[in-house]
Amino acid sequence: MAAQAPSLSQRVDPAGYRAVLGRYPTGITVVTTVAEGCQPIGTTVNSFTSVSLDPPLVLVAIGRERTIHPVIASTRHFAVNILDEESTALSDCFSGAPSELPREAFCDAAHELGGSGMPLLDAALATIECELDRSIEAGDHTLYLGRITSLAARASESWPLLYFRGRYLRIEHAGTEELLGKPDST
Ligand SMILES: Cc1cc2nc3c(=O)[nH]c(=O)nc-3n(C[C@H](O)[C@H](O)[C@H](O)COP(=O)(O)O)c2cc1C
Repeated sequence: MAAQAPSLSQRVDPAGYRAVLGRYPTGITVVTTVAEGCQPIGTTVNSFTSVSLDPPLVLVAIGRERTIHPVIASTRHFAVNILDEESTALSDCFSGAPSELPREAFCDAAHELGGSGMPLLDAALATIECELDRSIEAGDHTLYLGRITSLAARASESWPLLYFRGRYLRIEHAGTEELLGKPDST
């Protein structure tokens, strides 16, 4: 009898997956919502992307094991906070990495509540409040598609915090070199 071909998950080992996907640079966000008792909670997330303008949709992929996973499913609201490059300590804390900030006290992060009651971080470059449009189960994660209810870009001069090959990265030369590509239309 012919040997069965290995399944895809057998062929793609976790280290290889992380090494390859880690070469795709991303920004870093903190996804927030409110747990029982009006307790704000947040999780560091880089699997965030824009999806659709009409209707306005964004997507985050949240691991099923994450504390925030069932909370988003029940509140059906969340906010995406795009971190600036001064916010590595917040990113560490909200990811559960060793940190001097108290994770159980929302990492001591200064914030206000947005129109839908979602925590918006003062340290964010921009914030997006969403109502859950739909959830899609995807392996060990759930894709939460959020319909944008409000958004805001802060009048901040700072750059976004980047993530590349499992490490934080700063846009070191972006402020001094001419940008390549087509001009910004806005
Ligand atoms: C830079 C970075 C990006 C992350 N991106 C995601 C992500 O997109 N989705 C996710 O579920 N977890 C992501 N994590 C992991 C979660 O932040 C982490 O597992 C979680 O906060 C652990 O806390 P919990 O056990 O209380 O849920 C990321 C972590 C880091 C450091």
